[in-house]
Amino acid sequence: MTTIENRLPADYRAASLRADARAGLSATPKSLPPKWFYDAQGSALFEKITELPEYYPTRAERSILLQVAPEIAARTRAATLIELGSGSSEKTRLLLSALRSEGTLRGYVPVDVSESALAAAGDALAADYPGLIVHAVVADFGADLGIPASPDGDVTRLVAFLGSTIGNMVPAERGVFLRRVRERLTPGDRFLLGTDLVKDPAVLVAAYDDEAGVTAAFNKNVLSVLNAELGADFDPDAFEHVAVWDAAHEWIEMRLRARSAQSVTVRDIGLTVDFAAGEEMRTEVSAKFREAGVRAELAAAGLELRSWWTDPEGQFALSLAAPV
Ligand code: SAH
Ligand code: AVI
Repeated sequence: MTTIENRLPADYRAASLRADARAGLSATPKSLPPKWFYDAQGSALFEKITELPEYYPTRAERSILLQVAPEIAARTRAATLIELGSGSSEKTRLLLSALRSEGTLRGYVPVDVSESALAAAGDALAADYPGLIVHAVVADFGADLGIPASPDGDVTRLVAFLGSTIGNMVPAERGVFLRRVRERLTPGDRFLLGTDLVKDPAVLVAAYDDEAGVTAAFNKNVLSVLNAELGADFDPDAFEHVAVWDAAHEWIEMRLRARSAQSVTVRDIGLTVDFAAGEEMRTEVSAKFREAGVRAELAAAGLELRSWWTDPEGQFALSLAAPV
């Protein structure tokens, strides 16, 4: 059985897109938040990214889950799996199957800002996991986590945040986010976090600037979202995809670089934006992590790192944490 609960207030998407566009396009340097990549087209492009030869994180995280999902299930004995930024829920199947084999699983709560991704994933899961209660939640985890309060505190829950989506937040946002996750956990609950790890910058840059140009299309999709939803007149071909490694912050930064001087109108917010030739607008950071940093960020939020697993090549890590 699948239900979809939309926790976004009426007009939330339009209102927050307008606010983000106004703030980001008026700032120096210009920027846009990464959550606006994910309309139906952007979610589909992300799925194509996960299959690219250069984009190793999805494969690396899946290989860890293949190894440790049974141990996670045995240790958490969770009845409910809540997943933030669940997307297609593909890798999650390894956790669902392990929890089902453990005999504890009753419900799955995928939480995502993309209703199209939730609808597709929910239908597929309901077909493949008969009896599983799938309660999908449309929410913005930057505003309201979308984690339902534990009804009576006696249902053990595993909250998962996979794919290193935490890396798309800057450190201050991560701190706020992790504290809010912690507030929602009762003592028996656990938090499972996927983090991409610091590695050779050439490998990192290739993962965000692939030969086939899929990441470039994903990056430019944010302009199509502004065109479709705010009546903007961006010409995506007038911008170039840029991915750079910022060694000081240890993050990949995706940007869109104006190929020439141009003026763009965002009709619905009455804004005209001038770009100089070569001007760059930040569209995403994708932070890369080290074990000590993850442990410290979790601890600062009141979460204790209990297990740290990596793939054999040490590309990606999964952390299991408990509230303290
Ligand atoms: N967890 C999946 C998908 C990662 S892509 C994986 O590991 O492959 C990131 C997902 O987070 C997308 O599905 C996107 O729609 C969602 N997302 C991004 N920002 C969000 C936000 N602020 N609130 C809720 N979901 C968000
Ligand atoms: C969802 N997130 C973790 C992806 C990442 O790797 O930062 C989004 C992405 N951006 C470009 N490629 C993939």
